[in-house]
Amino acid sequence: MTPDGVLQVKGLSVQFPRRTAAHPPLMAVLDVSFVVGPGETLGLVGESGSGKTTLARAILRLVPAASGEVLWQGLNLLSMDATRLRRQRRDLQIVFQDPLASLDPRMTVADILGEPLDVHEPRLTADARQARIAAMLDQAGLSAGLRDRYPHEFSGGQCQRVGIARAMMSNPKLLICDEPVSALDVSIRGQIVNLLVDLQRDRGMAMLFISHDLALVRHVSHRVLVFYLGRLIEIAPRDSLFAAPMHPYTRALMAAAAPDRPGQILKGEPSSPLEPPGGCAFRDRCTHARELCAGSVPRLEEISAGHFVACHRWRELPD
Ligand SMILES: Nc1ncnc2c1ncn2[C@@H]1O[C@H](COP(=O)(O)OP(=O)(O)O)[C@@H](O)[C@H]1O
Ligand code: SF4
Ligand SMILES: [Mg+2]
Repeated sequence: MTPDGVLQVKGLSVQFPRRTAAHPPLMAVLDVSFVVGPGETLGLVGESGSGKTTLARAILRLVPAASGEVLWQGLNLLSMDATRLRRQRRDLQIVFQDPLASLDPRMTVADILGEPLDVHEPRLTADARQARIAAMLDQAGLSAGLRDRYPHEFSGGQCQRVGIARAMMSNPKLLICDEPVSALDVSIRGQIVNLLVDLQRDRGMAMLFISHDLALVRHVSHRVLVFYLGRLIEIAPRDSLFAAPMHPYTRALMAAAAPDRPGQILKGEPSSPLEPPGGCAFRDRCTHARELCAGSVPRLEEISAGHFVACHRWRELPD
């Protein structure tokens, strides 16, 4: 166990059954391992359909894992009983992509924010409860006058502020943000990202920040993990990854985001996660692919301090 690691994901795989038993299951997440340290923001970037949401949900046991462990303070969340899990959940919260859909339309904002307190701090006095709700509204940039209103009366940005405020009510030690601004107007994304960054700084919590947007992940993360078809293909400190991306897929993502940057342009669509190629899952799109890439799945190798890549040919790739 990493002593100071708050969240340790080990060999996590998630599969979804197919409609016909004749087909193998869809491997949405495959043998993924990483650590999120205290107060750290780990960015998780990958194309749509690469398994980011499934990974987030599996960590919180919202979908069952096929194998692997999720250790929180050294305890495996995936095997603990329901009572214990409920106690741990206080520390681990999630902000969803679709803010309105994640809020109960029949509850006022005050009810929504009060609910986590009722679950985790049932002995709070009514006055203390009200004070906590008021303080959180203020911190989330929501005026006190909104407390008795319903989610459908709000803009997308306000709904996401409520979703973030709800997640923060139990003072989590780790906040998972799954594409927290993708559903919002471009004009307000920055404000919501800044709110998350401010909350993290004030509370010292760790964050797993999931997005398909490379520039956004770069802006908020200390370290970045790159996902391709449910596999972790590169993980590195932020500056190391952006200064010297190694995996051909990471390079292609960066070239796509900054067209003046040298690097392979991605050809084709990602393979269906239903039928990934054997060996390296990226090989049907990789201009560097050779025979050995079909032979076995590349293992993660440390190429510089804290910078790991899963590519058979990383030593031979051009700088
Ligand atoms: N509940 C489910 N049942 C079956 N397949 C699913 C389910 N949830 C996700 N998938 C599939 O798993 C893959 C990964 O999806 P997802 O985790 O949502 O990716 P991302 O969040 O990166 O867009 C996709 O192929 C998706 O269709
Ligand atoms: S292992 Fe081979 S196919 Fe996969 S990224 Fe490396 S060079 Fe490309
Ligand atoms: Mg998703």
